[in-house]
Amino acid sequence: MSGSNGKIAICPGSYDPITYGHLDTIKRAARIFERVIVGVVNQPVRKQQTMFSADERKQFIESAIEDVENIHIEVFDTLLVEFARKHEASVLVKGLRAISDFEYEFEMNQLNRKLDPGIESMYLMASPEFSFLSSSGVKEMAAFGGDFTDLVPRRVAEGLKERYGR
Ligand code: PNS
Repeated sequence: MSGSNGKIAICPGSYDPITYGHLDTIKRAARIFERVIVGVVNQPVRKQQTMFSADERKQFIESAIEDVENIHIEVFDTLLVEFARKHEASVLVKGLRAISDFEYEFEMNQLNRKLDPGIESMYLMASPEFSFLSSSGVKEMAAFGGDFTDLVPRRVAEGLKERYGR
């Protein structure tokens, strides 16, 4: 089932790489909104160089959601609100895990609201089974040889193992 309210939502992120937690948020958004655009930021300003290129990150997402027809994936290199306007999207959807996410998301919400008050931000609470899950945690597990294969899609697990030569 997909939403029938005619609204388009953006699920933005670095997705370096995508995890089952991100996928859960994206798929839940796709059940609420008519269309969901997954916006993969080319180079996040506040973070270090990404581990995977924007194309690799996009391909990982594509391989994980090929069964959902109202989800579209695109790399962007602009302000998020500009990306949303380009797609005529009126809502930004993000997942929220713990209190630690809240402060950062609160700030981003205010900045985006200042840039374009017509675009609303909405938050989906992480499903309990993913509330601990982050891309950086998975990368750390991969770096030190931990088993992370049930936390990310198969292609991502392969990419991480390749990257760490395991
Ligand atoms: O997964 P992340 O790293 O939390 O996602 C961050 C993202 C992509 C939402 C953020 O970096 C972003 O929106 N970048 C585009 C520039 C922008 O519009 N920044 C917010 C207002 S200044």
